[in-house]
Amino acid sequence: MSEFSKIMEKGKLFIDTAMIEEISEVATWGILSGVTTNPKIIATQGVEMSPELVKKIVDIVPGPVSLEVPSNDYEEFVRLGKLYHSYSPEHVVIKVAMNQQGLKATKELAKFGIPTNITAVYTFDQAVLAGRAGGKFVSLFYNRIIDTKRDEFLTVQLSKTIADKAVILSILPSIKKDSELYLEADKKARDFANNDIRRTREFFDSHGIKSEIIVGSIRHYTDVSTAIEHGAHIVTVPTKFFTEMSFHPGTEKTIQEFNDAYAARNKK
Ligand code: E4P
Repeated sequence: MSEFSKIMEKGKLFIDTAMIEEISEVATWGILSGVTTNPKIIATQGVEMSPELVKKIVDIVPGPVSLEVPSNDYEEFVRLGKLYHSYSPEHVVIKVAMNQQGLKATKELAKFGIPTNITAVYTFDQAVLAGRAGGKFVSLFYNRIIDTKRDEFLTVQLSKTIADKAVILSILPSIKKDSELYLEADKKARDFANNDIRRTREFFDSHGIKSEIIVGSIRHYTDVSTAIEHGAHIVTVPTKFFTEMSFHPGTEKTIQEFNDAYAARNKK
């Protein structure tokens, strides 16, 4: 595959919400290739997982729509996976956990032609298994990985002066976000997460694995371009970050300047 076509395979955008109004608005920008949801999104946004909801979503975005089974059990992944998939067989992808239950369910659901999104992937090792199992999508949870690694790096640093692990754990939440200790651990954790995206992409590409990497758990609009740069096929983005990505005061100022000049053209 040429370098150009590899780049073209990166950087699709999904929206990480179940709110119809939000999906409708962002879809009008012509940038969406799919939709992801999870049980927490469904619960906090106060919507009901139903055939009607799924129909509304796919009418707006006729791409893959990930629906997550609210369970951690193989039998449930398969039972509800089949049910959810029937809501819109062309579009629905079943999200299953990245663990032994989810891997088994991926294999079973594949027998019925049901694609999976293997979710909550925290490590490269898990990504290798998810890719090998044949998940259509493999979802790396970017900021959750960063949080976990940052705590690990901070723990290593603190254990040089504090012997008791329980004390270290109790201190972690109170470390100031602008302290040198925190910033250093944060930088290392971000490098680690970026490297996990890159390694996963390289592994998939070099081993003929067709799974696409979705980077989720986005907490800042610049996470989107960072994930794309490191090899994400797709980034799934909460609506507010699309709004932030679209805006720059320089653009507004420039357009105002041009429009003012045009409005003043006959007044000289
Ligand atoms: C991805 O598919 C998930 O819905 C999502 O991005 C979860 O991340 P968060 O709960 O950390 O925001």
